[in-house]
Amino acid sequence: MPIVLDDTTHLLVLTGAGISAESGVPTFRDANGLWNSHRFEDLASPEGFAADPLLVWKFYSQRRRGLDNVKPNAAHHALVAVEQRLGERFLLVTQNVEGLHAAAGSRRMVEMHGNIMRTKCSGCRRTPFDDRASHDVLPPCDECGEPLRPDVVWFGEAIPPRALDAIDGFLKRGTNLVFLAVGTSGVVYPAAGLVDVVRRAGGASWLVNAEAPANVSRFDHVEIGPAGTVLPALFA
Ligand code: OAD
Repeated sequence: MPIVLDDTTHLLVLTGAGISAESGVPTFRDANGLWNSHRFEDLASPEGFAADPLLVWKFYSQRRRGLDNVKPNAAHHALVAVEQRLGERFLLVTQNVEGLHAAAGSRRMVEMHGNIMRTKCSGCRRTPFDDRASHDVLPPCDECGEPLRPDVVWFGEAIPPRALDAIDGFLKRGTNLVFLAVGTSGVVYPAAGLVDVVRRAGGASWLVNAEAPANVSRFDHVEIGPAGTVLPALFA
């Protein structure tokens, strides 16, 4: 069943790692997911970085290298096409840090967990630095000497206020609100709670996911299947 988009529809889309799975990017919690073979406490938390900054730096360097030949898939492109139809009545919120939405051409977009292609200083927080130059050595900040780190949100860290403000602003503007979540396991907050925020605002919710995620019962419409096939058909 397609999502009906008319001249008043405001569409808020939330994406997670599953939308990039068909591009070859590993997810986090599937059988081959990153958090099945690595401890997120060691690699994606301020405490892990303090304990072994080089280990964390190398993990993100390896992920960056893994993106060298990766391209957006049909699901990313479907979201670009719907953004072009809706204009200001569209907002994409992604938890993904690999930049495939931007590569596909999405513009009205919030990267709520940051982007691994950007680097910031762990001390003075200056950003961005050129992160591609040194993959296997941990570069120090040329201003304060503290180690650089990826500009992503780790467990225990706050979502950047400008990301939350953009979502709030869109929800306040939005009449005839439709929420669509794609490829996310519904366990990491605040993203996993957006479906409830939209319901309280009177909006309808859709989910496209390869399997039923943790928060599946809170969606009005559920489409189980691969995003690259389901999503283009959903906007047909
Ligand atoms: P997860 O790995 O937790 O969930 C990915 C979801 O996508 C799963 O429910 C899969 O079933 C589904 N999936 C896999 N392939 C799919 C496909 N082809 N089409 C549709 N769905 C598919 O990833 P996220 O929910 O994005 O945070 O994880 C949330 C956050 O946890 C991430 O942003 C990251 C992680 O730790 C940080 O690093 C801060």
